[in-house]
Amino acid sequence: MASAKPAQAFLQRVSGSVDVQDRARMFQQKAVTVWLTGLSGAGKSTIAYELERQLIALGHPCYVLDGDNVRHGLASDLGFSKEDRRENIRRVAHVAQLMNDAGLIVITALISPMGEDRAMAREIIGPDRFVETYLSASVDDCARRDPKGLYAKARAGAITAFTGVSAPYEAPANPELRVDTATQSKDASVAGIFDYLHETYLLKP
Ligand code: ADX
Repeated sequence: MASAKPAQAFLQRVSGSVDVQDRARMFQQKAVTVWLTGLSGAGKSTIAYELERQLIALGHPCYVLDGDNVRHGLASDLGFSKEDRRENIRRVAHVAQLMNDAGLIVITALISPMGEDRAMAREIIGPDRFVETYLSASVDDCARRDPKGLYAKARAGAITAFTGVSAPYEAPANPELRVDTATQSKDASVAGIFDYLHETYLLKP
């Protein structure tokens, strides 16, 4: 899938006269991707949408790419094998890259369990605008909450290759941000990300 297609030999990149700085000035922000990674039930979607709400309230154009939603359309042909998860992540990373090019802040909410797949996303999006954010709730914490009832089903064998039960999750070794969603409130978790973004990237770059 990732190999060069013959047709690409006859394609050239084209560009307009509006560049990344023009868009950054217009939106008063540096367009980064906050890449939330963590187990199912760690709070990725909750935090993504609350962060989006707060950024929009302050006038920062942004958009959430959530795995559960993306898998209804852009990735509706993909399952949960290692290869399919990698392809899911590749597609979302390319969409995030385009949205960043358009000037938007992107927040992704994908389990993205494998380190090498997150490294691929970092390369696609650009290392200087990739904010890997690890929501560190453990399997036990997530299984105790089990908001979608999926851990119970996975432990009963009704779902195969379920991350944290019957499929691996590799915790990031050096994420830009680590958020302990097991002990912190939603508001405290979002505030931590928001402060980091504000201090590091946002507003009049
Ligand atoms: S990823 O591994 O490819 O990054 P993604 O974040 O898109 O996963 O999708 C995870 C969501 O799919 C979970 O929140 C859960 O609702 C659902 N899901 C269904 N089957 C599985 C499974 N086998 N492993 C993990 N999540 C699953």
